[in-house]
Amino acid sequence: MAKEKTTFTCTECGGTSPRWLGKCPSCGAWNTLIEQVAEAGPGKNRLSAPQGYAGLANAQPVLPLAAIEAQDVARTPSGIDELDRVLGGGIVEGGVVLIGGDPGIGKSTLLLQAMDALQRAGLPTLYVTGEESGAQVALRSRRLGIEGSQVQLLAEIQLEKILATVDAMQPAVVVIDSIQTTYSDQLTSAPGSVAQVRECAAHLTRMAKGTGIAVILVGHVTKEGALAGPRVLEHMVDTVLYFEGDTHSQFRLVRAIKNRFGAVNEIGVFAMTEKGLKGVSNPSAIFLSQHSEPVPGSCVMVTLEGTRPLLVEIQALVDSGGPSPRRLSVGLDKDRLAMLLAVLHRHAGVACMDQDVFVNAVGGVRISEPAADLAVMLSITSSLRGKALPRGFLAFGEVGLAGEVRPAPRGQERLKEAAKLGFSVAVVPKANAPKKPIEGLTIHAVERVEEAMDVVRGL
Ligand code: TYD
Ligand code: MG
Repeated sequence: MAKEKTTFTCTECGGTSPRWLGKCPSCGAWNTLIEQVAEAGPGKNRLSAPQGYAGLANAQPVLPLAAIEAQDVARTPSGIDELDRVLGGGIVEGGVVLIGGDPGIGKSTLLLQAMDALQRAGLPTLYVTGEESGAQVALRSRRLGIEGSQVQLLAEIQLEKILATVDAMQPAVVVIDSIQTTYSDQLTSAPGSVAQVRECAAHLTRMAKGTGIAVILVGHVTKEGALAGPRVLEHMVDTVLYFEGDTHSQFRLVRAIKNRFGAVNEIGVFAMTEKGLKGVSNPSAIFLSQHSEPVPGSCVMVTLEGTRPLLVEIQALVDSGGPSPRRLSVGLDKDRLAMLLAVLHRHAGVACMDQDVFVNAVGGVRISEPAADLAVMLSITSSLRGKALPRGFLAFGEVGLAGEVRPAPRGQERLKEAAKLGFSVAVVPKANAPKKPIEGLTIHAVERVEEAMDVVRGL
C-alpha cells in the first residue's frame, strides 16, 4: 500500500509546506495552513471509482461554444415550496448542496421533511445520520407525523462505509448529517478537522458528479459564523444554503448564498411549529415587532435580498459608556456600524463618541445589504435624542463616506410593499423616489444624510 503523504496547503495563496507552520512560508498569512493528502495511493480501504467516471480518463472533445447544446438542468421539486425557492426550483441531478446553520436551528428537521416528500414523490432517498441515532431520527419523524416514511436511514460516520452503501443502494438523493461527523480512515487527522471535512466533502462531490446522485451536506457553523472548513467547502459544492434566525423566535430563514442552478440571496421563510417547519408564503411583516406606541431607537426598513421584500425593524440603543465605549451589532455588520457612526458625526453632527451603541435587526435576520444604512443611522439618532420616529415611518438607502445617500436596488418594489402594509411616511434616496405617487405613502427623497436628519426633525 502506497504510503500516504500529507502536505500543508495555505488556504489564502495555495502555497505548500511539508510541515505545519503557524505562518505560511509563501504569503506570510497566519493560521492558514491546512493538512491535505497529496497523493491518494491505491489504499486497501479506498473504494474504487464509482461507475461512470472511470471513463473520464479519455479526454473530452474540444468544441466551440456554439456547437454545444445548452441544456436546462432537470430539477425535482422537493415538495417544500420555500426550500425549492432557495434551491432554484428543486433538487438537481448530481448537484451538491451544503446547508449550514447553528445547532438546533432546524437543519435535520427540514431535511427529514424534504426527504420524506421526495421519497413519496417516487425518488429513492437515503438519510445518513452521524449526529443522532436511528432511534432519535425515528422519534423526530413521529413528531413530524411522517412515521410511516420509506426514507432509508443509515447511522454511520465512516465515509468508506457510507460510499459503499450508496453504491449498493443507488438512491437519487443522499443527505449526510453532518459532514463534520463524517471521517475517512485514510486520513490521520482527527474527525471534524478541516482536512477530514474537506476530503470527505471532496469524495462525496466526486461521487455525486460521477453518478448523478444528488448530495445534501449538513454543515455546522463555527462561533465566528463560518462553516467549519471555511471557504473550502463552499467552493466545492454547487449550492450553499444558510439557516438564519433566532432559535428563540419561531421564524427561520434559509438563504442561498451561492447557487450554480439558481439565484443567490433568495430566501425561504419558515416557522418552526410543534410539527416541524412550515413555509411562510407571505413573510413581509414577520420581522416587525409590535409596539403599541412608537418607541425611540426603532426604525423600519425594507430589505430585498431575494425576490421578496421584507420589512425589518432596526433597533438601536445609545447609552453613556465608559472610557472605551462599546459598539455591538446583531444581524448587521459591526465594521459598517463604526463607519456609519463616523459619517453621522462628520456629516450630520451627531456625536456618539462617549456612548455605547448597540444595534439589532429584530427577529434574528441578518442584513448584509448596505440599504440598511439609513435606517441604522436614524434609529441611532432617535435613541440618542430619546425621540421616537412617527408611526408608520420607514427608511432605506445606502450611505457613503462622503455623507451621500445612494439608491437601493428595486426601490419601487420596496415602497409598494411598505404601502401595502400600511406604512405612511418614507425617507428614501432621491434616485429611488417614484415618478408616480404611491397611494397612502408620503415620500421624502434625500441626497445627503444631513438632509435625512432634517426631514426627520421636521416630522
Ligand atoms: P434540528 O432539526 O434538530 O436542528 P439542527 O439539525 O439544525 O441542529 O432542530 C431541533 C430544534 O427544533 C429543537 O430545539 C426542537 C425543535 N423542533 C420543533 O420545535 N418542532 C419540531 O417538530 C421538531 C422536529 C423540532
Ligand atoms: Mg441536526
